[in-house]
Amino acid sequence: MPSAKIYYDTDADLGVLSDKIVVFLGFGNQGAAQAQNLRDSGVPNDKIVIANRPDSYAEDAKSRGFNVEHDFPKAAKVADILFLLIPDQVQPRVFNEEFAPSLKPDVAIVVASGYNVYYKLLNFKPTQDVVMVAPRMIGSSVRSLFEKGKGFPCFVSVEQDGTHKGFPIALALSLAIGATKAGAIASSAREETAMDLFAEQALWPNIILLFKEAFGVLQEAGCSDEALCYEMWMSKEPAEIFERAAEEGFITQLKHHSTVSQYGQLNGALKLDGSTIRSHFKEILYNRVLNGKFQREFSAIEADLEKEGDANPLNKLYTEHGKSELGEAESRVRARLAGLL
Ligand code: NAI
Repeated sequence: MPSAKIYYDTDADLGVLSDKIVVFLGFGNQGAAQAQNLRDSGVPNDKIVIANRPDSYAEDAKSRGFNVEHDFPKAAKVADILFLLIPDQVQPRVFNEEFAPSLKPDVAIVVASGYNVYYKLLNFKPTQDVVMVAPRMIGSSVRSLFEKGKGFPCFVSVEQDGTHKGFPIALALSLAIGATKAGAIASSAREETAMDLFAEQALWPNIILLFKEAFGVLQEAGCSDEALCYEMWMSKEPAEIFERAAEEGFITQLKHHSTVSQYGQLNGALKLDGSTIRSHFKEILYNRVLNGKFQREFSAIEADLEKEGDANPLNKLYTEHGKSELGEAESRVRARLAGLL
């Protein structure tokens, strides 16, 4: 596979933002961080508008000196650049109904996640620019790393280049929020969505399953719930392993383990046959994620996620997992060790 292009501060020109009105729809996790970074990068406060419904986020924006607009069509009318930084599941309704009809034909729309663009849930005009500037960090780190003069990992792409100026705008915005300091990686809404949803629907479900099955087998073999919980995750050993993997290398970090452990892990992993899991992974990637099957399934249950109790599908799933050997044992252990944890 070819290497991805990486863009740095020197590739971007903040000048392309001059005189542009930048509207942030949302002042939450990402909105608050990105708006403050952009202002600190030199975009004047009177060129920034925070479009937010009247709530605690709007109050937060006001207290930080931003101009807040509650009337969304009014904010849409003035926007040269519009950041969509409200939760992904509410973006289609809010954008399509309250912003799209009033937006300028040459506005640049900025998303921080590929989901709604890849699944074509937002109604853009072909003359508009659609760019993705997607930090791979939670908002508080986007802000704190910027304040420390450091960068953060970020994906950047131009999804629709209606004005033929989308690319310099995407890079200037990446620079302004602090994303080109450590290098912004050229990506796409398809790549970002594929990786995100694959991790959520293939990789992590299998990891959850592996832990649950391992727990059951060792419990059956006489291991105590307390010992198992600590051995498997409560000691934070897995968290440390992943930290070392990020810092030193996915396999290289094994050198910190005992020789018995290194031999067991390296030899054991090579002996396993990956073909079944590979075809299962491909099935999920192509026939669930990329073909939109999951998106349609999720859209159908989305409204129920606001409901209380068992009528909410997420609550039902938590209850079901709680009934597993691992779930029940962990509740007992946590209740017993309450105060010590
Ligand atoms: P958030 O949950 O922090 O959003 C809160 C904001 O959305 C507030 O301003 C609130 O007033 C507004 N909001 C919520 N519901 C609304 C509704 N029904 N109508 C109008 N406004 C509403 O959102 P977050 O987490 O900052 O996500 C924004 C975007 O950034 C998403 O596309 C997400 O995928 C992406 N992203 C998020 C990351 C994170 O760390 N949370 C990391 C990278 C990307």
